[in-house]
Amino acid sequence: MPSELSQIAPAKLNLALHVRRRRDDGYHDLETLFCFLGHGDCLTVGAADALSLEIVGPFADELAVDEDNLVLRAARLMAGQAACAAKAHIILEKNLPIASGIGGGSADAAAALRLLNRLWGLDWSPVRLAELGLALGADVPVCVHSRYCEAQGVGDVMTFSAPILPDNTPILLVNPKQAISTPAIFKGWDGIDKGALPKARSLTALQHEMRNDLTPSAVAICPEIKRILDALGETNAELVRMSGSGATCFAVYADTAKRDAAQRTIETRFPDYWTLASHTLNHDF
Ligand code: C5P
Repeated sequence: MPSELSQIAPAKLNLALHVRRRRDDGYHDLETLFCFLGHGDCLTVGAADALSLEIVGPFADELAVDEDNLVLRAARLMAGQAACAAKAHIILEKNLPIASGIGGGSADAAAALRLLNRLWGLDWSPVRLAELGLALGADVPVCVHSRYCEAQGVGDVMTFSAPILPDNTPILLVNPKQAISTPAIFKGWDGIDKGALPKARSLTALQHEMRNDLTPSAVAICPEIKRILDALGETNAELVRMSGSGATCFAVYADTAKRDAAQRTIETRFPDYWTLASHTLNHDF
């Protein structure tokens, strides 16, 4: 058995997010298109006599190592199901801002499931890991796979298909360094169903017929999001949108030169904001 394993916990983007209805359990039924990026947090697991978590990296200070941490919850849940002892030393390199609409905690939990599956020699399928992950959060199942997909339900009913944006499509992420509470943003949704995703799957359909229905609610709580969307709209982007419940916004570019020029423009205009030049990537976990 390996003594130490590492893996990226890729960031996710919602290329579109249509909220269809509020459910009796407090969650919302969605229709959404997920894609994944070449950047993310990084998780390392090693054999140990007990369960422990160490958080390092640029955003480590913003995340407490407490019992509620999704990585620790993932480890305990998995050990409980496997009827084995939850023994591992886990190092989480937190490269992405927390509570920012790009997966973060869900991607970390999914990476913990994938890695502990190997460390503990369980050999569970990705489908089983995804089913287990749903108990940890609505976005965990899709993060287990980290591949482009369309999702319904709370985001857990996944259909894998050819991505609208091919691998290595240049993407710029911008976050105003303001953590956003997902429940608060969903609570602020106006309750009006604005329609299903269209049938067409193309960049044109993404641009003109798809939306993120949580944007108005997120802008009401964090007006910086509107400033970012407006600024990105002036950078020769193919698509500009908020991801998830925000506050991270993203822009898609035809080439890396346009993306990198946009990053320089945004960094000059908003020196305090977090930006990341990345690209789409379907992972093979
Ligand atoms: O499942 P997760 O813990 O990531 O969701 C956080 C919160 O976001 C939920 O408690 C719920 O308030 C809201 N949510 C929702 N509908 C979804 C996903 C999340 O209302 N489909």
